Amino acid sequence: MFDAGKPSPATASLRPSEYTAALLHALRIDPQRVRGATVLEIGCGSGVLLAALGAMGATSLCGVDIEQDAVDTGLSLLHGLGYRAELFRGDMWKPVAGRRFDLIVANLPHFPMEHCPVSGRRASWSSGGPDGRELLDPFIEGLPDHLSRGGRAVITHNSFVDLERSREVAARHGLALRVTLTVLVHIAVEKAALMTPSVLVAEEGRSIRTYGPHVFADMHIVEIAAPGSST
Ligand SMILES: C[S@@+](CC[C@H](N)C(=O)[O-])C[C@H]1O[C@@H](n2cnc3c(N)ncnc32)[C@H](O)[C@@H]1O
Repeated sequence: MFDAGKPSPATASLRPSEYTAALLHALRIDPQRVRGATVLEIGCGSGVLLAALGAMGATSLCGVDIEQDAVDTGLSLLHGLGYRAELFRGDMWKPVAGRRFDLIVANLPHFPMEHCPVSGRRASWSSGGPDGRELLDPFIEGLPDHLSRGGRAVITHNSFVDLERSREVAARHGLALRVTLTVLVHIAVEKAALMTPSVLVAEEGRSIRTYGPHVFADMHIVEIAAPGSST
């Protein structure tokens, strides 16, 4: 049920984005693949994706975020909605070392830019370093140690962050990558201004479309799984 409540500064800075919405849309297309799954979210932010996966019937909910605010906000949301969840403050895979999950979701910071706050968010929200891959590569590399047999990851992937390289990293680790959905997202002008210039120049007219000050870009929802799993 909708509860406007009184937004705290943390809740406001963790507000879900178009990326969150697209990832949720992709997961909702195939609800039977969520029902009964053990779920992990890396970079769980507001906790809303875990809440949605709980509503879809996931068996267990686990999240990791580098920011304590996100852990507190996420736990408050999930407990308020009646879900049991484990949320850890920590870096990527560290808090879940040795554990495996049926479904791992992530909307990682992977915008090609140096670390700095933008649009009222923390620096940890969007910045993926100059090529956008600072978290993306270790995320893909860690999947074989954290996916259950037949498990899969579903993530957001900016089209301007070298999808073919992600495919190669996945293949090197025995995983298959496929795009399940592509949507156009709006990129705020102040965020576009921070994009690594070489990426902007290379991708303009390809995955990025600029109309005066208005910038749009393709964003993929990508599934990464062991070959032969039911993708
Ligand atoms: C783009 S936001 C996505 C938040 C949420 N999943 C959503 O879709 O609304 C990225 C999240 O990753 C978190 N994060 C950044 N670096 C991280 C790291 N090294 N390990 C875990 N989480 C991290 C940020 O704090 C932020 O909450």
